[in-house]
Amino acid sequence: MYRKIFILLMGVMQLTWVAAQVKMFTPGKLWPDNNGVHINAHGGGFLYFNETYYWFGEHKIEGKKGNSAQVGVHCYSSKDLYNWKDEGIALAVSNDSTSDIAKGCILERPKVVYNKKTGKFVMWFHLELLGKGYSAARAGVAVSDHVTGPYTFLKSYRPNAGKMPYYNDVTTSSDKVNCDHPANKSDHFFCRDLPGGQMARDMTVFVDDDGKAYHIFSSEENFTLQLAELTDDYTGHTGKFIRIYIGHQTEAPALFKRNGKYYLIGSGCTGWAPNTARWFTADSIWGQWIYKGNPCIGPGADTTFGGQSTYVLPVAGKKDAYIFIADRWMPNNAIDGRYFWLPIEFKDDEVEIRWKDSWKLDVFKK
Ligand code: DGJ
Repeated sequence: MYRKIFILLMGVMQLTWVAAQVKMFTPGKLWPDNNGVHINAHGGGFLYFNETYYWFGEHKIEGKKGNSAQVGVHCYSSKDLYNWKDEGIALAVSNDSTSDIAKGCILERPKVVYNKKTGKFVMWFHLELLGKGYSAARAGVAVSDHVTGPYTFLKSYRPNAGKMPYYNDVTTSSDKVNCDHPANKSDHFFCRDLPGGQMARDMTVFVDDDGKAYHIFSSEENFTLQLAELTDDYTGHTGKFIRIYIGHQTEAPALFKRNGKYYLIGSGCTGWAPNTARWFTADSIWGQWIYKGNPCIGPGADTTFGGQSTYVLPVAGKKDAYIFIADRWMPNNAIDGRYFWLPIEFKDDEVEIRWKDSWKLDVFKK
């Protein structure tokens, strides 16, 4: 009896010990959760709700098979950004092989936002149907009454069927697509997909200060990013959208706002292999988005330090504190994929990202 109690106590102490261990960010290293298990939430998205951070990401399994969705979307919670509690699977794939989210489909880059009007949590993700490779290129959406889920799958589709882009200012008029005479490859794909809806792959969702939400995704065979307005309940598209950096193959979009300006960080398009990051800025969400080059500086900058963007997380309660969050993919053993978080440095309105072997939140001023 006493022996059992002793063993139990030791177990609890060990768990507490493990949980208390993470005191700094160590980019690229294994990152143990509260159970001492490497966090399994790749291509992640973050939500700050009720003074708690939530991390949603792709649950990977071992081997190449882990590049497809065998389990679903994993959720973790944290109060301090270093220590993460396993909250389990927020959205599970379906055992029904006819479901859009059938086990073995490809479900990537989930992002969750909270809708103040409906009180619902809305999860968007990039969805590829079972057995169809990357050809479906759909946006999927699921909802829940609880932040950690379970989320109920609603639908998947290609956005904005039959809709032409919105043009915010005259300077973009030279980029206007004319489907009678598509001017380039990307215009051609845009026009091809006009009747059935635009392709939607790598993606993020951004909620602005006025409560409007936007879905930003790689479209047109990954040649062009699209930024599209979501409906008031965040579960559909309104038909208003723009095209960003036409023909330049931007993936892995991460959007944030600072001092009234919008920023977008993304990558090029080279499968799982790292490439050079790129950033953009705009005074209005509707553009014009200005290409600003590579935000990374120093050794490894040409390959985004071996990773690819997935999110930029504003640190709650701190001014000018934004964390660049990236994945270092391991396509041969997906579960071993690593994360790296790096502080964004601002030189006036310019974005700079430098590698750090370790760092703490105190790099940010109050
Ligand atoms: C790059 C994307 O950014 C990832 O999310 C994933 O879709 C891989 N390509 C697949 O090759």
